[in-house]
Amino acid sequence: MSAAISHRIHELARAARMLAVIGAALKLRSGAGADNAIEEQIRDGVRLALGDALTDLDHAEIAPLLVEIEMAFVESSELFRKPGRTASWKVEDQDLLQAMGRASSNAFDRILGLASTRPSLQAALDGVFLDVGTGVGGVALRAAQTCPELDVDAIDIWEPALRLAAENVAASAHAGRIQLRRLDVTELDPGPRYTLAWLPTMFMTLSVLEQAIDRIAAASCSGGWLIAPLYTRPDEPFMAVMSSLRTLRSGGEVTQAAQLEALLRARGYVDIEVDVGPIATFVMGRLA
Ligand SMILES: C[S@@+](CC[C@H](N)C(=O)[O-])C[C@H]1O[C@@H](n2cnc3c(N)ncnc32)[C@H](O)[C@@H]1O
Repeated sequence: MSAAISHRIHELARAARMLAVIGAALKLRSGAGADNAIEEQIRDGVRLALGDALTDLDHAEIAPLLVEIEMAFVESSELFRKPGRTASWKVEDQDLLQAMGRASSNAFDRILGLASTRPSLQAALDGVFLDVGTGVGGVALRAAQTCPELDVDAIDIWEPALRLAAENVAASAHAGRIQLRRLDVTELDPGPRYTLAWLPTMFMTLSVLEQAIDRIAAASCSGGWLIAPLYTRPDEPFMAVMSSLRTLRSGGEVTQAAQLEALLRARGYVDIEVDVGPIATFVMGRLA
């Protein structure tokens, strides 16, 4: 083995441990307790990795950093442990499903932000929202909670997630406005019914997506909005590869916003916009 390769791997392995020590220190700052001697070593490790930078951070600054570190470790270790696993989105673990639901509910807050400067999207929040791939209902519940005039149809094909979604909805104050169904989006009934639809494209093949957009367009009211997220593809080449891997391993196929824009345009959507976020990019448009 060349000395250069072994040196590079040694450097990267060291960087992974540094990130772990930084994450551990941030968790301890947020209230997790540890043995004094261990805590002291963690502090020493952070000083060597970052200097004294962490001491100035407040709670609001720590939270997003912890999310980034957590994502890096969860994604990397899953890829490393199971590089050959089948590409699909089939999570059995109930805690993980619930955690993903909590995380994905933020997507609806981003939609509310976009609606605040787009009157026709704001108007779509007084109608019926289609949440495709509702999982445990994170997005559906946030929609019902924040938009009192909105009814929600929440559909999914994954029974373990739907069971949890039913519990979450029943335990909420919004059960009367959320209709949960086991339904494949490619079998959605024609409308006109929906003023807003959410289609997470990163879990679907191109062929499913084409059928899904056809069905959603046929089920939507005139002027109905479709918001279709995909994982953001960073400019930096290595992180762009990671983003494509994330999509492919989730059972998705479309990795470029331009591809998704073309799919929407071909099915009658107009005023198509692309809103790039750190993790997800929203491609959105409304029916002419
Ligand atoms: C990451 S999960 C969504 C998480 C969700 N927002 C939550 O709050 O839990 C993506 C979901 O899309 C669902 N899905 C994939 N293909 C689908 C299809 N053809 N029709 C409906 N749902 C589908 C999967 O079963 C999965 O539950």
